[in-house]
Amino acid sequence: MSISKVVKDLRGRLDDKVCIITGGGSGIGFEASVLFAREGADVVVADINLKAAEATVERIKEKIGPIHVRKHAIAMKCDVSKEAEVKKVVEDTLKEFGKLDVMFNNAGIMHAHDDNVLNTDEKVWDLTMDINLKGVWFGCKYAIEAFRRKKNGGNIINTASFVGLMGAATPQLAYTASKGAVIALSRELAVTHARENIRVNALCPGPLRTPLLMNYLDTEDKINRRLVHIPIGRFGEPIEVANAALFLASDESTYITGVEFKVDGGLTAAYVTPEGPCTSASPKNFFKVTGEKNQ
Ligand SMILES: NC(=O)c1ccc[n+]([C@@H]2O[C@H](COP(=O)([O-])OP(=O)(O)OC[C@H]3O[C@@H](n4cnc5c(N)ncnc54)[C@H](O)[C@@H]3O)[C@@H](O)[C@H]2O)c1
Repeated sequence: MSISKVVKDLRGRLDDKVCIITGGGSGIGFEASVLFAREGADVVVADINLKAAEATVERIKEKIGPIHVRKHAIAMKCDVSKEAEVKKVVEDTLKEFGKLDVMFNNAGIMHAHDDNVLNTDEKVWDLTMDINLKGVWFGCKYAIEAFRRKKNGGNIINTASFVGLMGAATPQLAYTASKGAVIALSRELAVTHARENIRVNALCPGPLRTPLLMNYLDTEDKINRRLVHIPIGRFGEPIEVANAALFLASDESTYITGVEFKVDGGLTAAYVTPEGPCTSASPKNFFKVTGEKNQ
């Protein structure tokens, strides 16, 4: 086997790519940050919680093996609902790495007081929209500007949710509306910018074992109310969504744009679900969700 073939085989799936991951301090963003870095990307871990972002960077340093030697992983403080902060993260990334290839707009919240049409407070609605929707808009805006400036095309992944595609009778109206809007926004941007070699996809996770959902599902009843609707029979793991994001971020998906990429255990395909125990084991995350301790 030739040396060049061996070197090619050792390349990571994101070698030479510069990626910003918002909400990289926890859950999907944490798993994606470690995974992207392991696959050779330079990763900017952006989070409103700088300490959490810094902890992710530390974990990246521990986890990277000798084969895919990444250049950098950097933590940056960013509240995605603040336009100036998003702009600064993109500018600082360009200063540090000279380009941006992948913008993973992943930060999002599900407010504890998000409720039905009558009970959802306007403040809860506005905060949810500011982070989940406006934050994605700002991320897309400055990423596309950076892609255009550097004339190298680009790739945007926006985290939406399965609830943007279907209704839930356990309402969280602001969250659902924000995620539906993220799907619509992503589709339109994909079409508008397709001839600039810019891809935009909406990632639609099903219910996951991350703090965002698990903090809220604090009784067996609440858990079972949801599990019964999932054909695979268990909640998803953040690493399973991060793996899908890796595929969308890589050049393995160059003909995919404008899609709602579902990672939901079959949830959105089901009228009724199978009976019997769950037979598929959960893959291991880089981070242990329950108990909040690293594995
Ligand atoms: N967990 C689920 O079941 C599920 C399902 C579908 C979609 N999603 C979506 O996936 C994304 C990630 O969720 P997760 O489950 O990993 O959540 P998580 O709560 O584990 O992590 C979210 C991260 O975003 C950060 N964040 C919150 N507000 C921010 C802001 N204003 N600016 C920057 N960062 C901010 C938090 O500090 C945290 O580190 C969210 O958009 C969420 O809506 C989650």
